[in-house]
Amino acid sequence: MSHIEIFDSRYARLKAVDWDFTDASQDSLASIHPYPARFIPDIPRELISGLGCDKGAVILDPFCGSGTTLLEAQRAGFESVGIDLNPIACLISSVKTKELPPEFLPVAHDVYEQAKNTFDGYVDIPTIPNLDHWFKPDVQKALSSLLTHIDEQSDVNLKNALKLALSSIIVRVSNQESDTRYAAIDNNYTANDVLESFLTACNKIHEAKKRNSVNLECSKIFNQDILSVLASDFDKPVGLVITSPPYPNAYEYWLYHKFRMWWLGFDPIQVRTFEIGARPHYQKKNGQTEEDFRKQMSSVFDLLSDVLLSGGHVCFVVGRSVIKGKIVDNAELIRNVAENHKMVLVANIEREIAATKKSFNLKYGKIKTENILIFRKD
Ligand SMILES: C[S@@+](CC[C@H](N)C(=O)[O-])C[C@H]1O[C@@H](n2cnc3c(N)ncnc32)[C@H](O)[C@@H]1O
Repeated sequence: MSHIEIFDSRYARLKAVDWDFTDASQDSLASIHPYPARFIPDIPRELISGLGCDKGAVILDPFCGSGTTLLEAQRAGFESVGIDLNPIACLISSVKTKELPPEFLPVAHDVYEQAKNTFDGYVDIPTIPNLDHWFKPDVQKALSSLLTHIDEQSDVNLKNALKLALSSIIVRVSNQESDTRYAAIDNNYTANDVLESFLTACNKIHEAKKRNSVNLECSKIFNQDILSVLASDFDKPVGLVITSPPYPNAYEYWLYHKFRMWWLGFDPIQVRTFEIGARPHYQKKNGQTEEDFRKQMSSVFDLLSDVLLSGGHVCFVVGRSVIKGKIVDNAELIRNVAENHKMVLVANIEREIAATKKSFNLKYGKIKTENILIFRKD
């Protein structure tokens, strides 16, 4: 059962919400592409409706991942800004929040037909480490052929939606055991399976977008390291921040999307270098510590203090993690950092994480609750 502490009576209305969201709604747009540790849409939805955002200001998610906050902001009629280091995160966020061109499905069929007719001839296969270990030769040819024809498209939104469809099938048609198990197994996927899966993924995106028409130009997405973002990069003030940061030594977004990034022309090793919380930074000798994470979060709050309007709110959804056998209370850490930035804690919600949201990190998987911390800038 969720537990809520209110430190300012003006926020008593937040008590009316069941923050466990035991009957959370299913969102067809959330399922167009997998993403680890994403929000259930109900969290940003309730925070937006309970806290609001000044007219003329934007809602910001500095770790936007698959764009759940951005989409809920858009549904509630607010402009939003999303930032994420991971290019796959930005691709998903972009397709979710931008208009899908009406010619998407016919073009998807054309790309499928062209790839079907050409994959067996000469195709340019990208250079990817250990490619033959992870992808069968026919699968490589079919993926490369689809990519070639996707790259011929000139409309950015159209190209992004086609790339997202391709990205969503890459792990499934590889020899990787599953999205969260990194062993190689003998997969029997053929070129034809790849082409059919691509078309199915395009249909899924088309159906989900049809049911979720969007207000154009409502969100801006920056594929950037949050620690390199400046207040001057914003052209509007921020009225509300809703985010869930990467936890130290927990999920590995770069690893989860490694093959997708290689295939789409990004460098996952570069992403790993700048990814906050990634396990390799913590597990090596003299690796990062809780203090490094505190400094990173402090830099994020420097930025948030600069861009947020007075009276605006910052909501951090955060759980515990484990560094070298020691549990780190990230909620306590964020609370200290925020208070050092003169932000006032107005509510602290502890909620249960549904069993279906279990992580692939076993140590982390034992942790059953997370906190929603709500601060106000006075
Ligand atoms: C908990 S996830 C956010 C999930 C998101 N709330 C959703 O609903 O999909 C944290 C995100 O932080 C991103 N991240 C990690 N290091 C980053 C950095 N240095 N700059 C920006 N984003 C970063 C990861 O790529 C990941 O998408």
